Amino acid sequence: MKETEIRKAVREHYGERARQVTSCCSTTTRRPGHAEKLYSREELSGLPQSVTDVVAGCGNPTALASLRKGEVVLDLGSGGGIDCFLAANAVGQSGKVIGVDMTPEMLQLARDNAEKMQVTNVEFRLGEIESLPVADNSVDVVISNCVINLSPDKARVFKEVYRVLKPGGKVMVSDMVLLRELPESVRNDMAVWAGCVGGASLKEEYLATIVAAGFKEVEIVSEAASARTGELAGAISSIKVSALKAN
Ligand SMILES: C[S@@+](CC[C@H](N)C(=O)[O-])C[C@H]1O[C@@H](n2cnc3c(N)ncnc32)[C@H](O)[C@@H]1O
Repeated sequence: MKETEIRKAVREHYGERARQVTSCCSTTTRRPGHAEKLYSREELSGLPQSVTDVVAGCGNPTALASLRKGEVVLDLGSGGGIDCFLAANAVGQSGKVIGVDMTPEMLQLARDNAEKMQVTNVEFRLGEIESLPVADNSVDVVISNCVINLSPDKARVFKEVYRVLKPGGKVMVSDMVLLRELPESVRNDMAVWAGCVGGASLKEEYLATIVAAGFKEVEIVSEAASARTGELAGAISSIKVSALKAN
């Protein structure tokens, strides 16, 4: 499958999700209870529905990233902005959060959410995670929530993450990986790809890609098998991975 086709399908899928959240007449694509499964009541309190309705992650990377005041955080595939807003709170006014997303509708939703919440230490940038609109050696912590599986070029993504991190910087991602190969017909189904399954790598390959990008201390912090049925039964796992860029 061509990279351009994949990006187009993914962008259309998430553009539609953002439109449904912002539409006056929509019943939204909200997955009931999804945000509540990933985030604590305390984290969700005070967040508008236009943030929580569009949550599409598979983890809670900010909870594990032990963010500190003053840090610069980058969120890959920031969606409606939930992890950026939680990170912004953790790093405070002396810190800064950058969210990057390639879907214009999602970006607009995140920017509107920031304005609504009057959060001033978050900036949302349009861009692809394979070619980050971020300077070299400028970020303390990179987070990402269920996005890298969607990329047709994961090696490039992790090289980019390495480039933008400061020496000693950390990456902490939640993502979907495969425990066994999926049939070609499933992998080539664009709806399955956009649903964070078709593009997922085998777990060992995913970890090897991070090591190949130059990272040290590549570690699975936690892992949970994803409950799927049919062809996908026992094939998918949600993992949280951390890694360091050496000093
Ligand atoms: C599954 S959603 C996750 C959104 C958010 N991280 C969350 O937890 O709710 C995937 C997001 O990543 C964006 N995305 C997917 N592939 C991307 C890429 N190659 N570059 C930049 N953004 C991408 C999509 O537009 C979408 O907003």
